[in-house]
Amino acid sequence: MSDLAEAIEAISRTKPQRVVVFTGAGVSAESGIPTFRGAGGLWRNYRAEDLATPEAFARDPFLVWQWYEWRRGLIRDAQPNAAHRAVARLPNAVVVTQNVDGLHARGGATNIIELHGNIFRLRCVREGTEHDAFDAFESLPPRCKCGALFRPGVVWFGEMLPAGALERAAEEIRNADLLLVIGTSGVVQPAASLVALCGGTSIEINPQTSALSSSCTYAIAASAAEATPPLVDAILEATNA
Ligand code: OAD
Repeated sequence: MSDLAEAIEAISRTKPQRVVVFTGAGVSAESGIPTFRGAGGLWRNYRAEDLATPEAFARDPFLVWQWYEWRRGLIRDAQPNAAHRAVARLPNAVVVTQNVDGLHARGGATNIIELHGNIFRLRCVREGTEHDAFDAFESLPPRCKCGALFRPGVVWFGEMLPAGALERAAEEIRNADLLLVIGTSGVVQPAASLVALCGGTSIEINPQTSALSSSCTYAIAASAAEATPPLVDAILEATNA
């Protein structure tokens, strides 16, 4: 039996009621958005770790904003893929995502915990106020009406996650009887450590072996858009039966 068939069989047998979907950049790869690590994961020879930090922003806000504006443009032009849309078909699932691209919401999911913020949110560095901004900026770096710089409303390396997000995600995953782990390398903490909290069945979807593969009950070596829809079909079938 293939890994996918075994996972589907486990879903049919266990009829999971509380489903959590934990995602990383790989779930958006088939929407054309580059992942952070691996082939195509670099921008002008910078690594995410060299740009997504408070120190990088303090040193060169223009450079950091150029990177974010490039990513914002890619994401604006992208569409949710079959994996985002499949996840949204699960009526009671909670989506815990490390992604800042907002594609789960655009794909129709409603119960989403964004652990690392959202790239279309701005925060004034002086006032701390937050604003949504989807369109391209006329000039970089963008500024608040008060004159201070805006920063992207995302979590940078070395920063705390948004208040309550990690705790809510941990609670959901602890109570889950099925956890789908889709498209994450599992190396960025504290997000990656959430997977170990699941006492139920865990199913990873990732074409490569990740740091989380060996701790998941099933590891399906396939892309998100290939393997997520049949797993969602199996969950819906098992729980409607
Ligand atoms: P990574 O770039 O570290 O990992 C992406 C994962 O997706 C890899 O394991 C790939 O094998 C897998 N992948 C690639 N294509 C896929 C596909 N079509 N279907 C399924 N999986 C696929 O991204 P994350 O794990 O999300 O944080 O990285 C975590 C965090 O590090 C990000 O949220 C970001 C980053 O730096 C911050 O910016 C704070």
